[in-house]
Amino acid sequence: MESSIVQNAPYEVQVEAGKEYWYCACGKSKNQPWCDGSHEGSGVESISFVAEKTETAWLCGCRMSEKLPFCDGTHNDL
Ligand code: FES
Repeated sequence: MESSIVQNAPYEVQVEAGKEYWYCACGKSKNQPWCDGSHEGSGVESISFVAEKTETAWLCGCRMSEKLPFCDGTHNDL
């Protein structure tokens, strides 16, 4: 299964330094942009990352970024 486009814009989220997060890569989670386990059986796994800093992060909503889970501006070309 392919990841689905959830929205054509990034999610603005607050992350805390040193904390681990699970980003929904399949697009099916009801708790976007975070994984809620909905990917099970889809062949797409969530993407985990540890925040380096406490800051505002921009997570990809279109799932087309080459730097998942982060937005790289690709949504502007969709
Ligand atoms: S939301 Fe996907 S690249 Fe920006």
